[in-house]
Amino acid sequence: MSGIVGYIGKSSAESILLDCLTHLDYRGYDSAGIAISNQEKIEIRKEIGRIEDLKTLLEMEPITGGNIGIGHTRWASHGSPTISNAHPLSDDQSQFYVVHNGIIENYRQLKNELITKGHVFCTDTDTEVIPHLLVQHDTGNFEETVRKVLPLLKGSFALAIMSKHQPDTIIGISQENPLIIGFGQNEAFLSSDISALLSYAKEIYPIKNGEIAILKANEIKVQTIEGETIKPEKRIIEWTEDDFSLQGYEHYMLKEIMEQPKAIKNTLEGRLTENGVNIPELEPFLKESFEYRKIDIVANGTSYHSGMIGKKVMETLLDIPVEVSISSEFRYEHGPLSEKNLVIVISQSGETADTLSALREAKQYGCKTIAITNKRRGNIARKADYTICTNAGPELAVPATKAYTTQITALYLLAIALTEKTKGHGLDRIPEMLKELHQLPEEVEKTLIMTQDAIDQFAQVTEDQYRLFLIGRGLDYVLALEGALKLQEVAYLHADAYAAGEMKHGTMALITPGVPVIALSTQKHLRDKTISNIKEIKARDAFVVGVTTIGDDDVSEIVDEVMYIPEVHPFLMPIIAAIPLQLLAYYAGTVRGYNVDRPRNLAKSLTVE
Ligand code: BG6
Repeated sequence: MSGIVGYIGKSSAESILLDCLTHLDYRGYDSAGIAISNQEKIEIRKEIGRIEDLKTLLEMEPITGGNIGIGHTRWASHGSPTISNAHPLSDDQSQFYVVHNGIIENYRQLKNELITKGHVFCTDTDTEVIPHLLVQHDTGNFEETVRKVLPLLKGSFALAIMSKHQPDTIIGISQENPLIIGFGQNEAFLSSDISALLSYAKEIYPIKNGEIAILKANEIKVQTIEGETIKPEKRIIEWTEDDFSLQGYEHYMLKEIMEQPKAIKNTLEGRLTENGVNIPELEPFLKESFEYRKIDIVANGTSYHSGMIGKKVMETLLDIPVEVSISSEFRYEHGPLSEKNLVIVISQSGETADTLSALREAKQYGCKTIAITNKRRGNIARKADYTICTNAGPELAVPATKAYTTQITALYLLAIALTEKTKGHGLDRIPEMLKELHQLPEEVEKTLIMTQDAIDQFAQVTEDQYRLFLIGRGLDYVLALEGALKLQEVAYLHADAYAAGEMKHGTMALITPGVPVIALSTQKHLRDKTISNIKEIKARDAFVVGVTTIGDDDVSEIVDEVMYIPEVHPFLMPIIAAIPLQLLAYYAGTVRGYNVDRPRNLAKSLTVE
């Protein structure tokens, strides 16, 4: 995923583009660049690394003037993060300048054809074919040339393009990748997402597939690819700058961990009744007869882990099998699919290419699809038959935290609705679940207070360590997977999660004296077996930190350190127990001086497969 911006108006383009890019760097931060036109010429400045590095370059090599420009912050997909591969990219005659988010799937074939026509390429990127195609098909009319080239491109992409011949214009394109127009006073903006526009525009228009936006300082036109003019239905931006600010926290990751009580409350808002759930978005679906033979849950990363939690609970309540798949696997390898399959896709960003492709695959087989996402207007929400929005508010730290706990909350609401609809075998468990769902935000608040005080000794499990293990049974095992991922992505630790009962079948060979192990024991019906597994590991002198419910002294007696958390309904324990694991990763990363919001090599969502 990358972030693209454009500006045209009365102010200096450079400062506005840099400010907008700063709000988009969660989308990728391998390199950044801008191209600015001052009517006579178009100048480019690009730098590997983050926006700050580009700013430093611009101080040394300033661009003189210019109130039109485009900018880009990149997560490297094709071509390593070098200056030459950084966007904006141009053709070998410096006629067209392009910034791109997404993937041109047929770029190799296009590149080969262009090379045979004499074009000289200088990057390894897929993007570079675009300016060369524009030169190849240049009619002398910028809009017309773009219209001729667009149908040649296969894949999902958002583009902002400038032309040396028409230096007063920026053209914006959105094909399965978001690009938003921001309407200012005699000025216009383009951005991959709203967060960059908050201080510049109140009205926006997300460009739709097959549309072309033509931006000039005093005129914004939107047309279909055939040239028919469209009147854009402007929307008022519902977010404020506050929603995207740190609000006094040192990092977005900590802010978003601490926001979880409110985020979960917002996920539950309007969907919990005294004795059931009410999910308005699903009303038509729940009115239909339920003839599904199987539920598939499909996602990536942390969203995949929340899907695994959802599976375990759904299978306890419903009478149909639930399978969880990694999106990039599902797209190519899945079981039999038909209109008898209900496919649930989970995506915080609503843009992840793997999950979008898996969703398309499911729809091709006639499956009914439900999206659980934090972006109600994202691509995935637009493509799914139904959407349950997590309403968690913007999550800007690359490591997902409130996304995880609100996704689980949404999955529980869906599980309860389906159990009530199908009179599933777990129907009698719903009242107890509902009672505790009402209390969940408070219990999460209590957990944050409890664990924040205890995190110091808990965090010692990772001090001077580069590897550790997390173990658990049932829901604790699935949560251990998420705890391990957090430690990998935030503190760069080799953290591995194992089913507690599985250690003795091989991995125990890696347990040496002092090796840190986090043992999750929150599932009462599994605790005796988990205690046995902890004893097996302690017998090899591992350093074990137990995460268990208040008062469970059996665990605290056999481990080296214990992290107590409030006891709630066993199904809700993964949300409560996630808190100390999120805080542990946060502290383990910050104590090592890492940028926990922007971990190396990662991006908030990947719009490439
Ligand atoms: C990764 C993010 O790129 O994508 C993870 O770093 C996230 O935090 C994963 O869980 C899936 O993203 P999404 O937006 O589809 O939930």
